[in-house]
Amino acid sequence: MRRAAVTAVGHYLPEDRLTNEELSQLVDTNDEWIRTRTGIIERRILRDKSKASAFMAIEAGKELLAKRGIAAEELDVIIIATITQDMLVPSTACLVQTGLGAVNAWGFDLNAACCGFLFALNTAASFVESGRYEKVLVVGTDKMSTLVDFTDRSTCVLFGDGAGAVLVEADEEGYGVIDSALYCKADNWEALCIRGGGSLYPPSEATLADGIHYLYQDGRVVFRIAVEGMADVASEVMKRNGLNGDDVRYLVPHQANQRIIRAVARRMGVSMDGVMLNISRYGNTTAATIPLCLHDWERELRKGDNLIVAAFGGGYTWGATYLRWAYDGSAVAAGESPLQSAPTAT
Ligand code: UT7
Repeated sequence: MRRAAVTAVGHYLPEDRLTNEELSQLVDTNDEWIRTRTGIIERRILRDKSKASAFMAIEAGKELLAKRGIAAEELDVIIIATITQDMLVPSTACLVQTGLGAVNAWGFDLNAACCGFLFALNTAASFVESGRYEKVLVVGTDKMSTLVDFTDRSTCVLFGDGAGAVLVEADEEGYGVIDSALYCKADNWEALCIRGGGSLYPPSEATLADGIHYLYQDGRVVFRIAVEGMADVASEVMKRNGLNGDDVRYLVPHQANQRIIRAVARRMGVSMDGVMLNISRYGNTTAATIPLCLHDWERELRKGDNLIVAAFGGGYTWGATYLRWAYDGSAVAAGESPLQSAPTAT
């Protein structure tokens, strides 16, 4: 059976760090509250106003192409998961296509908030499994600092900027996306939203005055639903595939809150040694959290490792994917291209 596997990973993180200490100069907060309630110590901020999500996606894409040892012209499709597209039109995918020189690729933006990367990965997998496309670039990129109200302590401490990318290619050996459960609904959407700036509340003096172009979150409400949603959907996928906690090499969770991640891992029976957790360094980068985890752990991953990738986000959107890893990260650690151990695309 033709499956769709991740065959390379790339990333981009802005150099500027915003620490908890610096945030405590801006709003009434402190390092202890942020660390204990969220697990975040610092986040990256893209301060250059002339650069945004497309720039970060292009950088992540360039790194990925170099690691995989292929030319941009070989890409067939580019899917950009983001809620901070550079402009409404053109799409960020168009900017990335041209920025990379991926002249043979078409592409589009996908908005599923913190679940964006997971939905984009599954879309890419369907394209490849169908046999219609060979090489699909999936990028999660978000410049969250542009959506955050830096006078609102309940949200401004949570988010950061960054991008992560994966290449999805055909695999005939049984590695790649094995199974997924994906959901969305708008019940209680008001607890996590950006109401302004769309066609219902187009930008106006009133939307600016009301601050509804900023991200709003009722954290307590979302926390409860996020734990239940992520744990239930991850368990659903594990059960369907006969996996228990010991069979899972890594849980790859969306990084919104360390406490949410611990609670989900506990419910899945996965020990914290088997959980990718980097929220302390980057905060919540929305669509980028999961590919940034894959980037940070790539060298530890071995061909055949079972990963459960799980996310929950605004909408609400949520889901989990059982991903059987397709190449040895030791090749990356040795400075070689993952190509040497990755399955050859047909
Ligand atoms: O990524 C998309 C999905 N999003 C999520 O999954 C996020 C889910 N929610 C959360 O992660 C957590 O709810 C937060 C981290 C956002 C908040 O943590 P919490 O433990 O739920 O805190 P809380 O909202 O219940 O607030 C507790 C107290 C409040 O004070 P009172 O009312 O008890 O006096 C807040 O005003 O903490 C206060 N507070 C803060 N204090 C210091 C809220 N933000 C801050 C802050 N610094 N930055």
